[in-house]
Amino acid sequence: MPSSTEKLTTHHNFIDGGWVPSVSGQTFENRNPANTDDLIGVFQKSTAADVSRAIDAAKRAYEHWRLVPAPRRAELLFRAAQLIADRKEALARDMTREMGKVLDETRGDVQEAIDMTFFMAGEGRRQYGQTVPSELRDKFAMSVRQPLGVSAIITPWNFPMAIPSWKIIPALVCGNTVVFKPATLTPLSALNFVRILEEAGVPAGVVNLVTGGGGDVGSAMLVNDDVRVVSFTGSTEVGRIVSEKAAPSFKKVHLEMGGKNVIMVMDDANLDLAVEGCLWGGFGTTGQRCTAASRVVVHERVYRPFLDRFVTRARALRVGDGLDPGSQMGPLVSAEQRETVMQYVEIGAKEGATLACGGHALTTGAYAKGFFHEPTIFADVSPQMRIAREEIFGPVVSVMRCQSVEEAVAIANGVQYGLSASIYTQDVNRAFSVMRDVYTGIFYVNAPTIGAEVHLPFGGTKATGNGHREAGTAALEVFSEWKSVYVDFSGKLQRAQIDTADL
Ligand code: UN1
Repeated sequence: MPSSTEKLTTHHNFIDGGWVPSVSGQTFENRNPANTDDLIGVFQKSTAADVSRAIDAAKRAYEHWRLVPAPRRAELLFRAAQLIADRKEALARDMTREMGKVLDETRGDVQEAIDMTFFMAGEGRRQYGQTVPSELRDKFAMSVRQPLGVSAIITPWNFPMAIPSWKIIPALVCGNTVVFKPATLTPLSALNFVRILEEAGVPAGVVNLVTGGGGDVGSAMLVNDDVRVVSFTGSTEVGRIVSEKAAPSFKKVHLEMGGKNVIMVMDDANLDLAVEGCLWGGFGTTGQRCTAASRVVVHERVYRPFLDRFVTRARALRVGDGLDPGSQMGPLVSAEQRETVMQYVEIGAKEGATLACGGHALTTGAYAKGFFHEPTIFADVSPQMRIAREEIFGPVVSVMRCQSVEEAVAIANGVQYGLSASIYTQDVNRAFSVMRDVYTGIFYVNAPTIGAEVHLPFGGTKATGNGHREAGTAALEVFSEWKSVYVDFSGKLQRAQIDTADL
C-alpha cells in the first residue's frame, strides 16, 4: 500500500467540464476504515452555492445532450465501460482502501459497474416505444421515450461504484444530465468513476460531481426546481426526507432504502449449502448491504444442526484489512457504523436472544486502528425482537425457528421492509409457492439474498422502495417518461371517440 503522504491529494468537484474547488473553500478528509492513520485524500465540502453551479451547468448541457442520438450517447458509454474494465484492479484497491470491504468484493463492485455500463450502453439502440393502429383512418399513433432533464443522483458508500453506475448510466443513455452527490465516506470511488466518464468523452456539464454532506449538498439538490428526477439509495429515514423535500416541485423520485432480508431454511434443505449461503449473505460486505441476509428462519427439525454448523463457520471467518488477501471480512465503514452494531448487540442480549458467537468489537493488535467487529450470530430470536425487525447494517445475523413453511413466510413478510428473500429447499412446489407468497422485490431459491445481476430489476416493496426499480430495462422507466404521439394525415378534422371510421 502506498504511504499516505505519497497518495495525499486534494480532490475537486467536477462542474461544467472542469475540476474546481468548492466555493466555500472547505474540505473534508477521507480515511481508511481498516487503519485510520491512512489518509486517502482531502475532498471538497461543498455547499448550496456549488450545487447551484452544477445544476446550472447540467441544465445548459441538457439542451445539447438531449438532442444527441441515443446510439451516439451510448458509444461514449461503451468506451467508459471498457475503461473501467481496463482499470478494474486499481479501482478495486482504491475502493477497499476507502470503505473496507475485501478486495474480491470491491472487484465485484467494479465488475457490476462494468456490467451495468455495457448493458445500458446497449439500451442506446433499444429505447423501444410502441406503434399501434389508430381507431381513425389515416392517423398514426406511437409512443416515444423522452428524457426529463437534470437528474440528482445520491448514492451510498456500500457499493461506491456499482450503485452510481446503476443510476448515472441509464440517466445518460436516456438523454438526461447529471448532478452526482456520492456518500461522504466514498468520494474517491465516485471521482474515479466520473474521471472515466470525462475521459470517455462525455461533454462538459453533462455529468457534474459535487462532494459533501447530505444536509448541504443533498438538500440543495432536492429543493432546486431545475432538478426533474432524483434517484436515491440510502436509509429509509433519509429516503423519507428526500421524498418530502422533492414533493413540492413534483420531481420524479426513485428511492431504494432499507432491508431486513430473510433466508428460510426448510427441513429438506441441503444444510451445507444453506450454511454457505447464510455466511455469504450475512457477513459479505461485513453485513453492510441492503440485501444482507440479516434474518435466518430455520425449520425446527434442522434448527440445531444448522445452527451448530453456521456458528462454527462464522467463528472461523478471518476478519482483517480488506487489502490483505487472507481477510474474509473487512471492517465496518466508520466508527458510527460500528457503534450502531455494538448497540444492537446490547439490545439483542437485553431482549433475551442467545448470543451464539461474536458480539465484540475488535480493538487490539492489528485491529487497533480500524472499525472491526466480530461476525455475530444471535440464536433463539423471536420475530418481535428489534434485532429481527430493524436494519442493523453490520455483521449481525438473527436466527429464528419455525414449525412450517407457512410460519416462515409469515415471518418473512412480517417486517416493514421488502427487498430480498430466499428459500433453501429441494421441493420445487414449495419453492414456487413461497416465491409467490413472499412480498419482496427480489427472491432466490437455494442461494442467499445477495447476488442480483444488472440486467434484471433491482429494488423492493414497502419501506424499501417507492415502486420504482433500478437496473435492467426498469431503470429506463425512472430516467425517461412517455410521450404519446398522434399524426393525422387525413387532411381533415377527425374527432377521437366521436367520429367513427367507415368499415
Ligand atoms: C446493496 O445491497 O446495496 O445483490 C446492493 C447484491 C449486489 C448489489 C447490492 N449485486 O447484493
